[in-house]
Amino acid sequence: MTLLTWNHACSVSIRAMDDQHGILMDAINELRQALIRGCGREKISELLDQLIEFTRMHFSSEEQLMAQTGFPGLEEHRAEHHRMLAEILQAAHRLQYGEGLQLRPLLCGMHDGFLEHIESIDRQYSPWLRERGIR
Ligand SMILES: [Fe+2]
Ligand SMILES: [Fe+2]
Repeated sequence: MTLLTWNHACSVSIRAMDDQHGILMDAINELRQALIRGCGREKISELLDQLIEFTRMHFSSEEQLMAQTGFPGLEEHRAEHHRMLAEILQAAHRLQYGEGLQLRPLLCGMHDGFLEHIESIDRQYSPWLRERGIR
């Protein structure tokens, strides 16, 4: 399983958000490494909880930035965050109760889902925030 790296092609041109996106990717990588090392269920579940917690925090700081600058696409963006988080929580729940969910495909799906979200939806706030002095 290869590790995923963060690069400039994924930048949304807002420093704090780029940093948070990098941390999200690191958290996914940490989970992947834990799987490779054969870590136990408890450790995996702890790392997954951390990833979920950080995802919540990141979504809410993006929403705060958009709200504070009156970004017109806020509600649509917020709805997409809710949808993503619900999907992750549902998968984590299934994993926790051993409903046959595989963690590797889940992590790949999360990684791809995050990248797609960043590239298609997060980027929409960049010009708006930058015009208002947030870089
Ligand atoms: Fe984001
Ligand atoms: Fe977002």
